[in-house]
Amino acid sequence: MNIIYLIGFMGSGKSTVGAYLKETYQLSSVDTDEWIEKNYEKSIPSIFAEEGEEQFRQYEMEALRALRGYDVIATGGGIVERDENYSTMHENGTIVYLQASFKEIMVRLQHDASRPLWKDQDVVEREELYNRRHALYTSFADVVIHTDQKKIADIGERIIELVQEE
Ligand code: S3P
Repeated sequence: MNIIYLIGFMGSGKSTVGAYLKETYQLSSVDTDEWIEKNYEKSIPSIFAEEGEEQFRQYEMEALRALRGYDVIATGGGIVERDENYSTMHENGTIVYLQASFKEIMVRLQHDASRPLWKDQDVVEREELYNRRHALYTSFADVVIHTDQKKIADIGERIIELVQEE
């Protein structure tokens, strides 16, 4: 089984790229966040508010294990917070890090009010999280794709090329 796992910071375009690959290359694609919301019948912000981040991480780990048989899986930005998730992804496919710069993320998420680990943080906390996560994404990744100023179509094409080389 060779699943393409998309990892990267919030706002790096994982879901958009997943949807593009689905439409353009007729690949099956799914988001861990969507799976969690459907499966637990609760929005991500409500899970964070009512059950806490630890519980969300547990759901995320379960989602990743449950989701098999897809060509592409767009993960939540915190998938790298659990080492077990590395094993699941490494054993079942290729891990692709969509790397957007902190500056770019700040622009993309400037009006975002839906992400519990972003919306109430100040710029210093946001950058700390970005830097800590960047190190984790890099250590998880089989391939890294820089996405700043790139068109979705070019990112999609590059993913297909890189995964074929793997
Ligand atoms: C999170 C990222 C979100 C979502 C949750 C936590 C994170 O997904 O899973 O809000 O810890 O980075 P996106 O990366 O799709 O925004």
